[in-house]
Amino acid sequence: MGRSYKVAVVGATGAVGRQMMACLEERKFPVAELIPLASERSIGKSVSFAGREIPVQVLNKDSFAGVEIALFSAGGSISKEYAPIAAAAGAVVVDNSSAWRMDPEIPLVVPEVNPQDIALYKKRGIIANPNCSTIQMVVVLQPLHAAAKIKRVVVSTYQAVSGTGQKAVDELAEQVRALFNSQEVKKKVYPHRIAFNCLPHIDVFQDNGYTKEEMKMVNETQKIMGDKSILVTATTVRVPVFYAHSEAVNIETEKKLTPDDARKILSTAPGVKVVDDPAKNKYPMPLDAAGQDLTLVGRIREDFTINNGLNLWVVADNLRKGAATNAVQIAEILAKDYLK
Ligand code: A2P
Repeated sequence: MGRSYKVAVVGATGAVGRQMMACLEERKFPVAELIPLASERSIGKSVSFAGREIPVQVLNKDSFAGVEIALFSAGGSISKEYAPIAAAAGAVVVDNSSAWRMDPEIPLVVPEVNPQDIALYKKRGIIANPNCSTIQMVVVLQPLHAAAKIKRVVVSTYQAVSGTGQKAVDELAEQVRALFNSQEVKKKVYPHRIAFNCLPHIDVFQDNGYTKEEMKMVNETQKIMGDKSILVTATTVRVPVFYAHSEAVNIETEKKLTPDDARKILSTAPGVKVVDDPAKNKYPMPLDAAGQDLTLVGRIREDFTINNGLNLWVVADNLRKGAATNAVQIAEILAKDYLK
């Protein structure tokens, strides 16, 4: 038996933070003590963990004394400020925000793709957890890349509101309720109504016309897969789904891969489940992906407009594999290989 660890969860009352604690519990991560941290708004609240109610503490500079692993999901500005404080106190930070992802001194890790990069955490004490849409895409791309070298990726996403946080989950539910009761629809989180709508707008617009979410998919894919030559172009869209992101992914490879080749490769790829039987109406859907940890892939078919092209439909739970599960998997590798 290995030892157990003092673990802090920053953003413990949020959509991802709560899922992080659920994943620690489900995956039986050896937690000696759990420190749930949030803002002053959460004073008096508690979280349930391993059959106990644990009071939430207000995050401050002294929150990390004795903490060995700190899972952060309280937004970029909190991570920018507090991840170095946690690291200086001796914790290894696994950070779910975008604050550190492109820093060359900080590893950006998807355990199925580049677990070896975790070793770089020793430099700054921080490991970045990638963007949710990027994680599920690279889990599927990596084995195909290893077999046939991917040259170019064109991806369109259909992203669930839970990626924006608990307040967006509440907003979609409230808007649907208001519409069915002929009441006024209120919007606070998104610039437009999200109920029965699609917003081609995730994160902020950049000078180049893309959104920050779209550029994350470009830059993070290259960093995680360790190959700057992979060209990626993305359109990211928020859809009125609560949990699980879907992606239409088109790839061009150097070597020819038939759909059967791809299905065969993906059927043994770690973290991937092929769901691809159109004759029986079987294909990945958010309702099936939500609440579990595998990345589902289906609708695998040839792109007849180019020589070596494939189309794929990729769906995963954005709060789990796209965030919490990936972070806990990183913590598992830390415990097994580094913090013995
Ligand atoms: P709180 O509930 O106290 O506001 P979500 O992504 O679902 O919106 O959750 C965001 C998480 O980040 C929540 O747990 C939230 O805590 C936490 N958070 C937001 N701002 C701060 C802050 N200034 N200090 C500590 N935690 C914060």
